[in-house]
Amino acid sequence: MSETRIALVTGANKGIGYEIASGLGALGYRVAVGARDGARRESAVEKLRAAGVDAFGVPLEVTEDRSVADAAALIERRAGRVDVLVNNAGISGDTGPGWTQDPTTLDPDLVRTVVETNVIGVIRVTNAMLPLLRRSASPRIVNVSSSVASLTRQADPTIEVGPVMAAYAPSKSFLNAVTVQYARQFTGTNILINAACPGLVATDFTGFQGPRTPEQGAATAIRLATLPDGGPTGSFFEDDGVIPW
Ligand SMILES: NC(=O)c1ccc[n+]([C@@H]2O[C@H](COP(=O)([O-])OP(=O)(O)OC[C@H]3O[C@@H](n4cnc5c(N)ncnc54)[C@H](OP(=O)(O)O)[C@@H]3O)[C@@H](O)[C@H]2O)c1
Repeated sequence: MSETRIALVTGANKGIGYEIASGLGALGYRVAVGARDGARRESAVEKLRAAGVDAFGVPLEVTEDRSVADAAALIERRAGRVDVLVNNAGISGDTGPGWTQDPTTLDPDLVRTVVETNVIGVIRVTNAMLPLLRRSASPRIVNVSSSVASLTRQADPTIEVGPVMAAYAPSKSFLNAVTVQYARQFTGTNILINAACPGLVATDFTGFQGPRTPEQGAATAIRLATLPDGGPTGSFFEDDGVIPW
């Protein structure tokens, strides 16, 4: 088996995903750049290669079975296995004034759309990649979540948790809950799976508002992607440590 480790990052064409791809590339990973738009994908791959990263593009729309199956087939042909999967692709869904999603007026279709990407997309990609991950000596899965998923923090009036986000925040709580179920299912295997919060990062997602750079936002996901055997699993981390559920 080749010594070079293989990482797939979803939504790797920009923002935090791009920086996760870049950071793993700098650590010597061969990076499969998962992105749904051809031009954006190719420009990210070119930029990564120019920085010395061994990168290749993988067309990947996480809400489509066919796209995800084709992505797994492409990675199998190009690399033969996956050592690290970072499920980074995510959306907030439409928001109202002040970047809010008011639960009392929420459009059910908005909830469906957000869950389809942020939760079902992650399950779809993870399960399609599992046969390739199982070929790795030390498979790692990182689900990019958010501290707004923390019910403990959301329910504590003494903690500043930002605006009410009735579709996005629960979608990440759902993702965290699914992460725990995967960790339970992987008990006794060498697969480690965790959720990561990047902090508030200036990207398209936040209208480029936020104190952290995408590179800073990538750090926890990269740490979890490169955990040693016997490291934590089924947990939820930010830079400062574990986030309460
Ligand atoms: N920015 C923050 O402050 C913050 C805080 C907490 C958590 N997060 C999480 O961090 C992750 C990355 O966010 P970001 O800030 O880097 O956002 P971003 O700049 O908007 O990037 C999102 C990425 O996800 C991709 N994507 C969205 N829907 C997709 C789909 N259905 N199929 C494939 N790719 C899809 C986008 O592709 P296109 O370019 O084609 O749209 C893009 O590459 C998300 O999961 C987000 O929830 C962000």
